[in-house]
Amino acid sequence: MKVLIVGSGGREHAIAWKVSQSKKVDKIYCAPGNAGIAQIAECVDIGAMEFDKLVAFAKEKAIDLTIIGMDDPLVGGVVDAFEKEGLRVFGPRKNAAILEGSKAFSKDLMKKYNIPTAAYENFDSPEKALEYLKTAKFPIVLKADGLALGKGVLICMTREEAEEGVKTLMLDKQFGNAGNTIVIEEFMTGREVSVLSFVDGKTIKIMTSAQDHKRAKDGDQGLNTGGMGTFSPSPFYTKEVDEFCHKYIYQATVDAMRAEGREFKGIIFFGLMLTEDGPKVLEYNARFGDPETQVVLPRMKNDIVEVFEACIDGTLDKIELQFEDNAAVCVVLASDGYPVSYKKGFEIKGLDNFVNRDGYYVFHAGSKLVDGKIVTNGGRVLGVTAVGKDLKAARANAYEATEWIDFENKYMRHDIGKAIDEA
Ligand code: AMP
Ligand code: GLY
Repeated sequence: MKVLIVGSGGREHAIAWKVSQSKKVDKIYCAPGNAGIAQIAECVDIGAMEFDKLVAFAKEKAIDLTIIGMDDPLVGGVVDAFEKEGLRVFGPRKNAAILEGSKAFSKDLMKKYNIPTAAYENFDSPEKALEYLKTAKFPIVLKADGLALGKGVLICMTREEAEEGVKTLMLDKQFGNAGNTIVIEEFMTGREVSVLSFVDGKTIKIMTSAQDHKRAKDGDQGLNTGGMGTFSPSPFYTKEVDEFCHKYIYQATVDAMRAEGREFKGIIFFGLMLTEDGPKVLEYNARFGDPETQVVLPRMKNDIVEVFEACIDGTLDKIELQFEDNAAVCVVLASDGYPVSYKKGFEIKGLDNFVNRDGYYVFHAGSKLVDGKIVTNGGRVLGVTAVGKDLKAARANAYEATEWIDFENKYMRHDIGKAIDEA
């Protein structure tokens, strides 16, 4: 089979690596890819939003299966563009990707189908939002309705902060049209867990759990980032939590989407908060998480291409997902200054240390080949992942492996998965 992967981050590198393990696959392309992905796939210079070019490429190369990694093209309707030409593609159509594309939609869906989530109201006028804040309880959470690179969520401790937030999102339009509508919701406390799942429209199969560290600095300080590291499984995702989520959240979401005429095929990523009143949905994403994928896929035993195909064909009920009884930790090596401003273009040394080392992986998030050298090309540069018999061992292995890599301005958190050791 020939496979095309759309995207250019650590998530797509992890997907490409897992696809490369499949016996069914003999050739992988990635658009646009990066310098790490180029070691296992042929990268093509087509952007993820260039739907016409992607479709033309898939036809020209007779691609058997295209996998969409990123949210923007999914929400923009890339799957519809492929299907229109009779091409096989993995991911939700535009009318289903709205589960991630509009937070107002997903909140209304959860309310209508009694799926546990924070209490909320949607607003499309700043005046009404400000009026509502007059009688609201604080802290409170403001969310831009549309895609905002994971940055459109404001936790506001006071009314003043919340008023400022309404201005930032709705009037100053910091996230453009994504802030035309906002969700104002109840502030919840608890442990966060990420759960990824495969969905074929009717059946949902849950992958092993993971947890992300979103803040830039140790001790969960500093600004929110795309994710500074992950671990899997989450010890807080217990059997009881799993049972609750199966009963009230997972299948309920898939059934709700079907009932709305928005059959969902692809990945649903459940962002969960384990509150005192039980698990609640923080958010849905319509794609694999980044960097959750970098710890989940190295633990997965199945041939992932078979699972992708089962989702497309509606036969996921025949698949049993299996994960290793171990743990994985991913530490992101970033450019110092991320997520605000940082320099790039520095040579990355030590990548060869990962060749033929079982259980150690280096997934590229932002790298580029320049004059035969791999250089840094983003805020998040690499995701160093290692597995181990448990979280403590995986963590020790991952941090050991971060020492094998060197580049100017290398920055990382030192406490990925640490709270867990102490738990
Ligand atoms: P989201 O993109 O909706 O997952 O929000 C990003 C982050 O903001 C989450 O991972 C949480 O840490 C935090 N967050 C979102 N909604 C809430 C909420 N209702 N209460 C507390 N924290 C929240
Ligand atoms: N790691 C969070 C996300 O992919 O949205």
